[in-house]
Amino acid sequence: MPDERVLDVSCGTGTLAVLLKLACPRADVVGLDADEAVLRHAVAKAARAGVQVAWCRGMADALPFGPGTFDKAVSSLFFHHLPPPTKRAVFARIHDLLVPGGLFLVDWGRPSGPFMRALFYTVQLLDGFESTADHARGRLPDLMREAGLVDIVETFHWETPFGARPNRRTVLDHAVAMSAGNTA
Ligand SMILES: C[S@@+](CC[C@H](N)C(=O)[O-])C[C@H]1O[C@@H](n2cnc3c(N)ncnc32)[C@H](O)[C@@H]1O
Repeated sequence: MPDERVLDVSCGTGTLAVLLKLACPRADVVGLDADEAVLRHAVAKAARAGVQVAWCRGMADALPFGPGTFDKAVSSLFFHHLPPPTKRAVFARIHDLLVPGGLFLVDWGRPSGPFMRALFYTVQLLDGFESTADHARGRLPDLMREAGLVDIVETFHWETPFGARPNRRTVLDHAVAMSAGNTA
């Protein structure tokens, strides 16, 4: 990932973006979030870690970047908050802002089996059934394809008390390890 430009979509307090920058000091890492207050925490977190990340306030469905601005985009614990039309809009914007052959890594997949499906109801109760239905049905890859993203693969499956997803560390490891050339 050296020298690559990487966007953390809805970065929250910046944990993943800071880890990315620590892992790849030469990469240009941008963290975007809608919430100014959480971005203040992100600024402090990066300062404590001694790294420079560009923080940007904005909406994920109106990402303020031109086509082909980034080699990679990552996102964790975000998409299950969005209603289906907004998910589609964000995937389309991510497709636009990645270079051809760029890589997109995202978490929260389909619960694996009835037990994990039952646990995922906890997330649905907390975060709403409309925004989480596509995750429960495993429809995220279809929505991504509809937005123009291609070669979608599930690279890691991690069982949590709230359903199956890769954790931030796994997203980080894949972002560092996988070269742009796949869009997933
Ligand atoms: C559960 S947090 C996850 C934060 C971070 N990615 C992480 O893994 O800790 C969800 C984040 O999405 C942000 N958010 C919600 N809706 C958004 C939108 N439409 N555009 C950009 N950020 C949004 C919130 O401000 C919040 O920081």
